[in-house]
Amino acid sequence: AALAGVVEYRNVTFAYPGAESPVLSNISFTARPGQTVAIIGSTGAGKTSLLSLLPRLYDPVEGEVLLDGVPVSRLDRAEITKRVALVPQRPYLFSGTIEHNLRFGKSEATDRELWDALRVAQGESFVRDKKNGLDARIAQGGTNVSGGQRQRLCIARALVTKPRVYLFDDSFSALDVATDARLRAALKQTTADATVIIVAQRVSTITEADQILVLDNGRIVDRGTHEELLETSPTYQEIVES
Ligand code: CTP
Ligand code: MG
Repeated sequence: AALAGVVEYRNVTFAYPGAESPVLSNISFTARPGQTVAIIGSTGAGKTSLLSLLPRLYDPVEGEVLLDGVPVSRLDRAEITKRVALVPQRPYLFSGTIEHNLRFGKSEATDRELWDALRVAQGESFVRDKKNGLDARIAQGGTNVSGGQRQRLCIARALVTKPRVYLFDDSFSALDVATDARLRAALKQTTADATVIIVAQRVSTITEADQILVLDNGRIVDRGTHEELLETSPTYQEIVES
């Protein structure tokens, strides 16, 4: 199972270069293929920072991040990118066609694969509605599509690469609740064998996660399923009620 997609954070502490105090302290968890691990916590808690360590946008100052048992510090970025897809919190589109944007991570993808990804990402109908379909042009930064459309195109782009590990950073926040629910149901099928780590603002997005990590001020203060945390975690209860 060398390419299974097991993610392990082992006692990870991280500070941004030049900063004095860490934004993540002693983070440990494991996410396995077939599982969804959710990360929730208030703004500035360190959720985006935590995700950024797996694709090595930054490296920890202490501890290790492992992919299939190998420290990612020993893997080159291209190797990681083949196995891990990050959908960033501010999804970015290039000036060019929709097709160009979707093929970004995997240039040899077929049109069929692009449409399959769009279908899962709930982006099929708005791309179909465009006069030029996949050839429709996206302005620099994606300014001519809505925030929710941008999110869905970036989710589709990740799906096209068929990674072992998906990192979704607040990727569903611009979607209405119904679209969010449809997208997650479709994703659940498509990513059933993959490892999914998902940062969310809305609790409704993550109630079915196998494990929820409650992040507060760079630390995991509680962990468990939604039902367990409702019973045991005052921090989680606060998030649910907010
Ligand atoms: N931070 C920083 N330098 C960066 C990015 C973030 O110093 N390049 C700091 C932020 O100011 C914050 C902490 O790191 O104090 C955690 O930031 P982040 O991981 O982005 O927090 P999130 O939990 O992702 O916050 P949000 O919900 O707003 O996305
Ligand atoms: Mg963030």
